[in-house]
Amino acid sequence: MSVVPSSLDNNSCDTAVRASFLHFKSDPDKTGEAFEYFEDGLLILKQGRVQMLAEAASEWIDYLPDGSIFYDYSGLLVMPGFIDTHSHYPQTEMIASHGLQLLDWLEQYTFPTEIKFSEREYADKIATFFCNEMLRNGTTTSAVYATVHSESVDAIFEAARERDLCMIAGKVMMDRNAPENLCESAGESYRQCSELIQRWHLNGRSHYAVTPRFAACSSPRQLELCGQLLGEHPDLYLQSHVAENRDEVRWVGELFPQNRSYLDVYDSYGLLGPRSIFAHCIHLDETDRQRMGSSGAAIAFCPTSNLFLGSGLFSLEAAYEHDIRVGIATDVGAGTSFSMLQTLNEAYKVCQLSGQILAPLKAFYLVTLGAAESLYLDHRIGNFNTGKEADFIVIDLQATELMQKRMESALSLEERLFALMMLGDDRCIQATHVMGQRQYSKAK
Ligand code: GUN
Ligand code: ZN
Repeated sequence: MSVVPSSLDNNSCDTAVRASFLHFKSDPDKTGEAFEYFEDGLLILKQGRVQMLAEAASEWIDYLPDGSIFYDYSGLLVMPGFIDTHSHYPQTEMIASHGLQLLDWLEQYTFPTEIKFSEREYADKIATFFCNEMLRNGTTTSAVYATVHSESVDAIFEAARERDLCMIAGKVMMDRNAPENLCESAGESYRQCSELIQRWHLNGRSHYAVTPRFAACSSPRQLELCGQLLGEHPDLYLQSHVAENRDEVRWVGELFPQNRSYLDVYDSYGLLGPRSIFAHCIHLDETDRQRMGSSGAAIAFCPTSNLFLGSGLFSLEAAYEHDIRVGIATDVGAGTSFSMLQTLNEAYKVCQLSGQILAPLKAFYLVTLGAAESLYLDHRIGNFNTGKEADFIVIDLQATELMQKRMESALSLEERLFALMMLGDDRCIQATHVMGQRQYSKAK
């Protein structure tokens, strides 16, 4: 360790955390020493950032400077906060709505629910619930869709700011093929987005995402203006849906007959690049995947949603063959859980159905550092390297009687992690810290 105990003073430490620690340095599929695991470790923080992670906490504990805050999570596992690369906060209340596939589900459940968000008070209530649910599930960063209403964007950014959460969000843009009161002209949505970008983009931990819902609900003019917004403001995100459902793919083909593929529609308006996040990407072809890889865009793999809506099986292997960045996502409310653990459980099964294996170390890389890389945020979050923003979660591997029983014979780290992702959920999250501060504690 580069720091010696004598240099631990009030200048280098205001908070210390004792626990078992796991974090990733790189992709476990690519390098041999991709992770660090310390059975008894100590995380030293200063002003919400990581100062260092040390092994053998007992050797350090006596040197903590007077007045520093000490969290003793001995016996529990601390990991970086989970990162959810795609979800819809306004769909919180309609999660688990029965029986339909994408296009009918949108019409019957989603659009009527999203209409309610024209009322700021209502949006605030659901945004508060959503952010609390993030914390209860150990998610400290999310890429989120609001609705077409500007107020709904203010509501989610404000709820996130109150909890210091890292939030990527944007106003849904639609100018056709949706109920009249959810559509607006391309010019009006451009104007409102410009205002929201001024207000929220790179404001604290908030990042703005230009959010055309999907090509089927946007005219060519609206997609053109999305590209214009990206050109006008640095480091904006772009989030949308692509190639989720076969009827949807066919419909987009009819709406944009001049384009080679659904993905090519977005590409032709300049919407593919670093910080573009495309949810689903199930029905892509070889050319699409090559283009995704070379553009630096990311895929949000949404296993619970893809199964719930019967959309199909996403191929993780095909994405990696083309060097595409991938994050995992809940996609609430087509997704059926806020828990990234439960989302990994379903991701594992989706891979199984395609003869692919999602190894436990890879899975936890994907919801921490891998997701941060997919979002180009790995210089700030995703692991415990010095200088990173200290978002971390405290996990109880023995949270349920069944987990206690299973852990008795799960001897290796990999076995325990696998049991965690198969059997775990919000019951395992003992505490969630954001920028070092404890924002959620299960005990309370
Ligand atoms: N495609 C367009 N809108 C949506 C949405 O809200 N959820 C999902 N899963 N797919 C979409
Ligand atoms: Zn979605």
